[in-house]
Amino acid sequence: MPRTGFSTDAVHAGQEPDPTTGAIMMPIYATSTYVQPALGRTKGFDYARTINPTRLALERNLAALEGAPYGFCFASGMAAIAAVMTLLSAGDHVLATRNVYGGTYRLFERVLRGYGLDFTWLDTSDLTAVGRAVRPNTRMLYVETPTNPILTLTDLRAASALARRHGLIHVVDNTFMSPYFQKPLALGADIVVHSTTKFLNGHSDSVGGSVILRHRRHAERIRFVQNSAGAILSPFDSWLVLRGVKTLALRMERHDENGRRIAAWLVRQPKVKKVYYPGLRSHPQHALAKRQMSGFGGMISFELGSYAKAKRLLDRVRLCSLAESLGGVETLISHPATMKHASFPHAERAELGITVGHDLIYVE
Ligand SMILES: Cc1ncc(COP(=O)(O)O)c(C=O)c1O
Repeated sequence: MPRTGFSTDAVHAGQEPDPTTGAIMMPIYATSTYVQPALGRTKGFDYARTINPTRLALERNLAALEGAPYGFCFASGMAAIAAVMTLLSAGDHVLATRNVYGGTYRLFERVLRGYGLDFTWLDTSDLTAVGRAVRPNTRMLYVETPTNPILTLTDLRAASALARRHGLIHVVDNTFMSPYFQKPLALGADIVVHSTTKFLNGHSDSVGGSVILRHRRHAERIRFVQNSAGAILSPFDSWLVLRGVKTLALRMERHDENGRRIAAWLVRQPKVKKVYYPGLRSHPQHALAKRQMSGFGGMISFELGSYAKAKRLLDRVRLCSLAESLGGVETLISHPATMKHASFPHAERAELGITVGHDLIYVE
């Protein structure tokens, strides 16, 4: 096979024309089981929770895009993250980025803490602080970069080196950048998670998640958990994401182009007090953004100076839809403090600067 580029892999990796008909598109294998040619023999497929050709194609496709040998798809981004956490045992400690997606915070604090895992939330852009927080029972460094909604970055290469020094599993939620703009495994991370609901599917019509891994021992555990707990991505959703990924490169380019233009426009507006976008030279981590991402994406947040002004804008905005989520072809706008980040306790949110009265608006 010749060496192929990202866009070619996005269209072809994991997908061969259907051997029966030659169908160029991966069929939706809507089946719960597979007929076995003889006792003790299968064609590689036995039961559809365990393995499904449409899901398998997507798993191979996403693994190829992240440059990894293993990939698994789940019923949602949260199911994917929950599966990754089964690599840990009661008594283990995790260091995690302080302003992760609110649902991740909720899973860790309000579900997994009850099963004996311990979490320290910290600003992972400060790796000295991360190093100081490592304990004898620390097993994982869980990073989201850039974070939503303040768009703070963590230096992935340095974070991976730190994780390696302390024997931690380095997990990166790469949902916001997608493998098109950021490849955490190439920078040293061990595991990447995605909410495929966002940019990978890209059309706001499916909920799903994936876990992409570099190490066989981790992959074997995730395969076992995927089958044992059964939170699999359906064949139809797998097909939707496969189809969405085919245009990932084109969509990400356009998100980036629009993001740069809108951020630059927002900066020029006298009523806008502050704009957060890694592509702006004024972003405190602009140099890091250029180093570890090949684009800045389409997610921007800004402040108007008061909650009343933010509410007024959100009540009157046209074209942008007031909705949670991101990564679709349409433009969404939201108020994180009362919407996406509502699952953070008030004190935690205040520490992040996302109070209910806060005027931060997030556009994507
Ligand atoms: C960064 C990030 N990770 C994970 C998730 C969870 O994904 P899902 O909604 O598919 O469960 C989200 C959802 O918004 C997200 O933004």
